[in-house]
Amino acid sequence: MALKLWNVFKFFGPAVMPIVVLVDVSLEIVQGESVAIVGASGCGKTTLLNIAGGLLQPDTGKVLWDEQLVGKLKRGSFLGFIFQSCALVNELTVLENVLLPLRILGLKLDKARAKELLAVVRLEHRMHAMPSTLSGGERQRAAIVRALISSPQFVIADEPTGNLDERTSLEVEELMFGLCREMKVGLIFATHDQRIAQRASRTFSLTAGRLHEVKKPLEPTTFFA
Ligand SMILES: Nc1ncnc2c1ncn2[C@@H]1O[C@H](COP(=O)(O)OP(=O)(O)O)[C@@H](O)[C@H]1O
Ligand SMILES: [Mg+2]
Repeated sequence: MALKLWNVFKFFGPAVMPIVVLVDVSLEIVQGESVAIVGASGCGKTTLLNIAGGLLQPDTGKVLWDEQLVGKLKRGSFLGFIFQSCALVNELTVLENVLLPLRILGLKLDKARAKELLAVVRLEHRMHAMPSTLSGGERQRAAIVRALISSPQFVIADEPTGNLDERTSLEVEELMFGLCREMKVGLIFATHDQRIAQRASRTFSLTAGRLHEVKKPLEPTTFFA
């Protein structure tokens, strides 16, 4: 199944002097594929991701998941969100945070599954801890588990490693790509980091509201004598 953005335009501000954020953006992402969006701060990456996830309406154009309008779907059932500031609820434990999407969706609180995923990100021993007692990297790992708990087919991540140091961001990156590969989910993420962007199946830069595919340097060729 695929997420499709069709001719999406988005403006902010008054009609007489609009801030033009997205101009005729079209993009299709299939399950198991990862797409990176790079671009200067303020270029519209968050706006694009929020529209892709149905958190924000485009001014014109549409967003479809499996040929259905995303705005009309029960979001969390197919989609997981990872935010830059990870947005864990401070008053809830790590485990309660991870189970929150299931609670909101009215699904069974599958604690065994939560513990299994927390073990994958090496946080099982911290499941009863409050988020304020975790490091930034640990919080982001918990946020990844929370995004994956409802077994989404698609994950949207807005600068998921933006607030992390080099080593922790490598760790979070491995996890994100690894879990997505194993669970065959589609992934779209925004980043400032060219190195992470290179790891995606496809990379796009967002400039003056338009999306351009960034061609990757060719893989080194192996010659056989
Ligand atoms: N709700 C809003 N109202 C008005 N302007 C907005 C709003 N949200 C974002 N913008 C503007 O749209 C542009 C793109 O913002 P954003 O998508 O957050 O960029 P990025 O994530 O690439 O930093 C910026 O100029 C920002 O100020
Ligand atoms: Mg942003």
